[in-house]
Amino acid sequence: MSEKKFDIAIIGAGPGGYVAAIKAAQAGKKVALIDKSHLGGTCLNVGCIPTKTLLSNATLYHKMKMAKEYGINTGELSVDYGQMKNRKDSVVKKLRGGIEGLLKANKVTLFSGHAKFVSPKEIKVGEEQLIKFDKAIIATGSEPVDIPAFPCDHKNILNSTSILELTEIPKTLAVIGGGYIGCEFASLFAELGTKVTIVEALPQIVALQGEQISKVLHDALVKRGIEILTDTMVESIDQGLKLNLKGGKTLEAEKALVSVGRRVVSENIGLDRAGVAINKMGMIEVNHQMETNVPGIYAIGDVTGIAMLAHVASHQGIVAATNATGGSAQMHYHAVPAVIFTTPEIAMVGMTLEEAKKAGYQAKVGQFPFLALGKSQASLDTEGFAQIVIDEKTGQILGAQVVGHEASALIGEMAIAIQNELTTDCVIDTIHPHPTITEGWLEAALLANGTPIHLPPKR
Ligand code: NAI
Repeated sequence: MSEKKFDIAIIGAGPGGYVAAIKAAQAGKKVALIDKSHLGGTCLNVGCIPTKTLLSNATLYHKMKMAKEYGINTGELSVDYGQMKNRKDSVVKKLRGGIEGLLKANKVTLFSGHAKFVSPKEIKVGEEQLIKFDKAIIATGSEPVDIPAFPCDHKNILNSTSILELTEIPKTLAVIGGGYIGCEFASLFAELGTKVTIVEALPQIVALQGEQISKVLHDALVKRGIEILTDTMVESIDQGLKLNLKGGKTLEAEKALVSVGRRVVSENIGLDRAGVAINKMGMIEVNHQMETNVPGIYAIGDVTGIAMLAHVASHQGIVAATNATGGSAQMHYHAVPAVIFTTPEIAMVGMTLEEAKKAGYQAKVGQFPFLALGKSQASLDTEGFAQIVIDEKTGQILGAQVVGHEASALIGEMAIAIQNELTTDCVIDTIHPHPTITEGWLEAALLANGTPIHLPPKR
């Protein structure tokens, strides 16, 4: 067995792990980064990037269907899904190469193989390599939950990974679970012509995002021809692709997507040998410095179960690497942006109105519809709104929600505002470029202040 010594060993090269590796290397440390699969983790290989590549096709197709309204004659449109899949694969490959280049440029040593702690100071990679380390960061991520009642054969009964391998658009698709993953794939395939049914056990889809967002998304998806069965539990799936619903009803489809959540990957990595504690759900518990119960061993990303979002993982990676290399940093979670990449996009950060009231604020909202914005009219992107939740007493911005074109890009401004405890006056005093959809925030702030300009004042 060959033996090597590193200052920092990182297990998992997803967005948390590789960012932590770069940060630690830039602090002058000798860093080992170990992964058993491709660089980039779930996000790059079977998550954010491939889905957003496919969804960008859907967005373009949606626009092309509106071509006549813009005065453009296209002739009959058709979709080559095989080409869409090929483009998705090549985007993933290109970005993977980019990460490899960055890691090499930062002199991070890469190991390929299954990593397992054998003591609080040693990791074995496969059978041949022993890595001794001073500090370690665990970034092993999550995977789709595997439920025996939904036996994924990855041909007809799919999970969020195998659905990415389809080369043809299914005629009908049953989506089990109306969370982020279910809604994004429903939106994608419905746009491309599939008859989609979402079956959700709870009374609402994307229930965690609160009633308003859930209702807006529900209505938008239904408007696009998606059938949504809420309060409907799928009990099992027969191989002939019949879904057995609670109460005795059934639903048939050509393909089914099982998107009922993800579970953390904390088994079989020797956490017991390192002495790292996990909770009942298998999640590694950490403090605000991202340190586990074992001093010098940190955990970041999905495996902590705090927020299964790539951008949270990479931020946690920076915090963990800073602390592991002699610096001092803490995680804060009051301004975590989240985006649902459906058509329309939905993005939010901070508190909803209900949450702000519950927290004891005298809260109110300013909501500005894109219908009333010049740029939205100019580009025919009038669906949705920008909304700011404020503390009426101080004007502090507590939360923001945005529905519509480029919501994913727009939410950044509000993340900065909330992270830095800015008030509506800060937004109003900032000159927003015209004509742009960023003016939606300016108008929402004016509305929240009770001084609207491009909407009539409320009586
Ligand atoms: P989820 O936990 O968000 O949603 C799963 C849904 O399935 C729940 O609403 C649940 O009530 C429902 N469900 C469970 N069992 C059911 C059954 N038997 N019948 C009917 N409904 C059932 O999980 P999801 O969508 O798989 O996403 C996992 C994680 O991935 C999320 O936490 C999210 O943070 C992350 N993600 C983030 C994305 C983004 O940032 N745009 C995109 C995709 C995933």
